[in-house]
Amino acid sequence: MSSPSPQAEGSALSATAPTPAEDATAAIRLQLRSWPEVERYLERCRGVIVPLGSTEQHGPTGAIGTDALTAEAVALEVGRRSGVLVTPVQAFGMAEHHLGFPGTISLQPATLLAVLHDLVLSLARHGFDRIYVINGHGGNIATTRAAFAQAHASATSRGLTNAAALRCKLANWFMAPEAMALARELYGEKEGHHATPSEIAITLQLEPSLQSKQRPLPEPAPAGPIHGPEDFRRRHPDGRMGSDPYLACAEHGARFLDVAATALCRDLEQFLQEPA
Ligand code: NI
Repeated sequence: MSSPSPQAEGSALSATAPTPAEDATAAIRLQLRSWPEVERYLERCRGVIVPLGSTEQHGPTGAIGTDALTAEAVALEVGRRSGVLVTPVQAFGMAEHHLGFPGTISLQPATLLAVLHDLVLSLARHGFDRIYVINGHGGNIATTRAAFAQAHASATSRGLTNAAALRCKLANWFMAPEAMALARELYGEKEGHHATPSEIAITLQLEPSLQSKQRPLPEPAPAGPIHGPEDFRRRHPDGRMGSDPYLACAEHGARFLDVAATALCRDLEQFLQEPA
């Protein structure tokens, strides 16, 4: 089964949009669509974007929801530009190593695997065969790949008609070369590995109230191996890994959103056009 690019035929949702002035964000949010609209969308496009985040500590000044906020914002920007539907964000991820800090909510790897597996199978059952996961948290990567493998196996064993055509792809916005280059340019070594100024900058752009948390912080502990939540907190007492989030600002956040969305839009376009 082919998955024609929505851009090749204009917005995949243009036939269902009541007026040209309809808000572009509302148009691509699955939450705001009716099932007949989704059914009509599937006649034009088999692609869907799934934002995947985490709910975990982000240092003494960063929001607990940073990874979910950033993944959803990048996903919605990619959706607006491409016309591809965006599901609700999966805001809980694999954050076991952050559980030493209050506010963190983690799914065990097996739980996250089951959640992602079921998401993919639900979407595939209705004909979506290009599942594009936009991820905001490094700790989700291994489990997401395992979930994709399990979903492929289940699609086949359950006899889904599009099992052979099903493709799942993981896109980590913070690892897009353009986003990494911008982080290097703006922050150098101070980008660090957790509670990074690049992700904090996006949250400041999205939620101006977060600016009031920003303050200078002491030199962070350097990044290194970690072995569970107690070890993490012992090595990184304030939750940061080598980063200086005080360097972040909302204007940077807008730039990160733009470069990440540009890179991922290109990647998504190729993914939609890949032959089954
Ligand atoms: Ni993060």
